Amino acid sequence: MAANKKLLFLPGDGIGPEVMGQVRRIIDWMDQRRHVSFDLDEDLVGGAAYDAHGSALSDATLDKAMNVDAVMLGAVGGPKWDNVERHHRPEAGLLTLRKELDLFANLRPATVIPALAEASSLKTDLVSGLDLMIVRESTGGAYFGLPKEITDLPDGGKRAVDTQVYTTAEIDRVCRVAFDLAGKRGGKLHSVEKANVMETGVLWREIATEIGKEYPDIELHHMYADNCAMQLVREPKQFDVIVTDNLFGDILSDCAAMLTGSLGMLPSATLSGADESGRRRAMYEPVHGSAPDIAGQDKANPLATILSYAMTLRYSFDMGEDADLIEKAVGNVLASGLRTGDIMQNGMTLVSCTAMGEAVTVELDKLAA
Ligand code: IPM
Ligand code: MG
Repeated sequence: MAANKKLLFLPGDGIGPEVMGQVRRIIDWMDQRRHVSFDLDEDLVGGAAYDAHGSALSDATLDKAMNVDAVMLGAVGGPKWDNVERHHRPEAGLLTLRKELDLFANLRPATVIPALAEASSLKTDLVSGLDLMIVRESTGGAYFGLPKEITDLPDGGKRAVDTQVYTTAEIDRVCRVAFDLAGKRGGKLHSVEKANVMETGVLWREIATEIGKEYPDIELHHMYADNCAMQLVREPKQFDVIVTDNLFGDILSDCAAMLTGSLGMLPSATLSGADESGRRRAMYEPVHGSAPDIAGQDKANPLATILSYAMTLRYSFDMGEDADLIEKAVGNVLASGLRTGDIMQNGMTLVSCTAMGEAVTVELDKLAA
């Protein structure tokens, strides 16, 4: 196949470069064994970019990101940049990418891999077989709403404001992504907000209900966000797809992630709307952070990033079979007993980040033989 698939790697900070290094290994494997090549470019983001250019995302990097089929990001942030002004902080690089590429639909699956069901902090029978997807709105709401400021008050105190704001169009487009996904999955959608106290919640519920009429086969439920948090730990298997705003989605997706036993296992995709040719801009990243405490020690779990690459193949390149293959290889490696520290269990074999990546390629060799 021709190398017309443009991919930009942004490894970022902390364990980002290590886990992305293991994806390179899979990409090399794809090249050699499946004859699938990518035009691969790599650049800086987050604290690494701030140190080099004084900005968490340079214009040149943003420009590259705008002109590829998919961006793969490792992780951003770390204590080193804690005192940097907010608009220069590593997180700003990530948020700018989401906003400028108009990546409004953040897909965060929480799937329990059978070999890891016992690693969950919940009882095994509550989580085994769990397969849910959170669709988090990711370019609006409290993250980006204006005003967003801290001002001085005459009494010497300060006043801090974040603005939770959503328009019809913003809610509409993310809900449609979620309805479409639910149609391809279990046919059930929970729309999550706080319509009992928030105007954005009232509008959200109204729009979700309206769109629901166009999807008569999807079972639509409305749920308050606090109840959703509770239901996620009470009976997570009641959910198929959840659609929610940026802030609730941030919180609920961490909660859902932990149901699976480790944040180190979960991939994500963030997509824009489709253009005339059906092409969507996209960014793929593990849900976990930069884990500065273990950075540079070859201890990180590369599987969430490897699974993010599988999502890249599935959603950006329509290569579902190859994505399946990678997911299967990851499942088999775990079933064989290999574990990185974050998912270590009694009787299993502790391996490094590199060894885990290698094991996945060895397994791919076996599966493809
Ligand atoms: C996430 C992260 C980010 C967010 C941070 C790093 C800005 O927590 O992707 O969930 O809050 O969106
Ligand atoms: Mg988060």
